Amino acid sequence: MEGRKRSLSGIRVTGRFHLGNYLGAGVNYVGLQDEYESYIFVADYHTLTTIPNARDFKDDLYDMVMDLIAIGVDPERTVIYRQSTIPMVAELTLLLAMVTPLGWVQRVPTFKEKVRDQPDNVNLGLFEYPVLQSADIIIVKGDVVPVGRDQAPHVELTREITRRFNRTYHPVFPEPQLVLNPEAPIVKGTDGKAKMSKSLKNIVGVTDPPDVIRKQVMSMVTDVKRPRKTDPGHPRSCNVCAFYKFFFDDWEHYWDLCRKAQIGCQEKKRILAERIVERFAPFRERRAELSREEIDAILETGGERARAIAARTMDEVRDAVGLPPYARA
Ligand code: TRP
Repeated sequence: MEGRKRSLSGIRVTGRFHLGNYLGAGVNYVGLQDEYESYIFVADYHTLTTIPNARDFKDDLYDMVMDLIAIGVDPERTVIYRQSTIPMVAELTLLLAMVTPLGWVQRVPTFKEKVRDQPDNVNLGLFEYPVLQSADIIIVKGDVVPVGRDQAPHVELTREITRRFNRTYHPVFPEPQLVLNPEAPIVKGTDGKAKMSKSLKNIVGVTDPPDVIRKQVMSMVTDVKRPRKTDPGHPRSCNVCAFYKFFFDDWEHYWDLCRKAQIGCQEKKRILAERIVERFAPFRERRAELSREEIDAILETGGERARAIAARTMDEVRDAVGLPPYARA
């Protein structure tokens, strides 16, 4: 493990994986494990900015970690942990706040969105969100951060804060780099309009039972400019066709059939649904074998490993800032 660069990513608790999570991030997590020393954590502190009691997302947390492992994130090769079991992250957040000008945080687009989305709960935690994220990344000295496009401003801010910290004190941290999944698709939901998201109820689940997947896929909005099956289709603007790109090597063949009105929208959906059901069968099987006890054990082991690294980083950080080492009993 030693000597390889570190990749790190956090996931807010949302629950079971859907196609958007899988294609946008999951594929990347799985791929990076070979090349990097990988860290993935459940961003439960971040989740508290919108759901203030962690008991309320406990089931979703298990679901999410189970799906993560089901899609191929291997706890033997990736350190998986819960952010809140690494208290040094909170401490580093506080110290990073001292080198973060207010203006930098005020500019962050996700903060502005949240102010719009939850005007009754604009808490300081929400404001501090990207500083906490910076601490997540640099506490394990992450070199690369695989995330979706929406997270790019946070990683950019992390780089700025890191530079500022290193310059103010001592070059403790590497500057982390953003890694977008090369295909980095923005996956639209079954409505064909908004980004796939659990709260919009427009998802296709990754480890859902086959019949649920079929129902979700069959509910997809297709080519709105094609009122009849005998009319030529417009694959470029059809969401179902967009999914063909991810699931079929010969997607161009299907796009062609669609353009020539040789395949109807319903049939396209049926074929797609079967392909997804088949492709995800191993994930469903793996997931069915996992128990909550196993997940607890995985998170505990991962937590121990991450804490050991975080403690070493904090020794350096405290020294750089001129603070005394922790009292050692
Ligand atoms: N903010 C990220 C998201 O909403 C989750 C996250 C928290 C994260 N800490 C992180 C991602 C550190 C990458 C690195 O998706």
